[in-house]
Amino acid sequence: QNIEYFKSIDSTNTFAKNIAPKSDEGMVIISDEQISGKGRVGREWISKENEGIYFSIILKPDIDIMNASFLTQVAGAAMVSSLEKMGVESTIKWPNDIIVNGKKISGILTEMSAEIDQISYIVVGIGVNLYNQSFEEEIESKATSLKKEGYDIDKKEFLQRFFLEFEDLYKEFLSGDKESTISILRKKSAVLDKEVYIIDRTGKTKVYARDIDENGNLLVEKENGSIETIFTGEISIRG
Ligand code: BTN
Repeated sequence: QNIEYFKSIDSTNTFAKNIAPKSDEGMVIISDEQISGKGRVGREWISKENEGIYFSIILKPDIDIMNASFLTQVAGAAMVSSLEKMGVESTIKWPNDIIVNGKKISGILTEMSAEIDQISYIVVGIGVNLYNQSFEEEIESKATSLKKEGYDIDKKEFLQRFFLEFEDLYKEFLSGDKESTISILRKKSAVLDKEVYIIDRTGKTKVYARDIDENGNLLVEKENGSIETIFTGEISIRG
């Protein structure tokens, strides 16, 4: 596998996007720390050395842009399934937070570039809190690390296991089959069959999470009984 490793970098996603046009599919960028790690919706992803693992994968699938967000789901499924092989029970808070004991240990940020309807490249960026971390108070209640939850996981072992799972699920997806990923997403969901809140510009809406459809979208039942498909966004479990 083609890997580029840094001690320090601004953001593996930003770097990956810069080199993506000239890179081969499957190229991986890893860094020990990130100076300006990026989270979803413009948030910061604190990325200190010896606290977590930060990496980005460059992909060039020949797929319609409509299907691109499914790669986030492939990465999430690969994450929970590789964690399970390392003895860690985790769930996915749709669309892409990985949860251990009710708190977040990993996040995924997928970015892409496309021309007309055709994808030029997709960068899947993953951050995992592996070791002890000093979170700010506000984050402390929502985030944890594998070490804090009692799991000692080696960086290298983690990466090897993750990529084994990711490669399997990604190849299956390229062949037009999403079944294994969907089945993991359903089995390991932190939201299915629960009352959850959809958070968007208009505020919070209480819904019941019914299912994950064959494209990885969330099907929710609103209080008036109607079923709605959620394509992206933020879900809160606690209200
Ligand atoms: C989230 O908000 O949950 C997504 C966090 C994604 C963080 C990873 S760390 C590696 C890659 N590079 C970045 O700047 N962000 C992603």
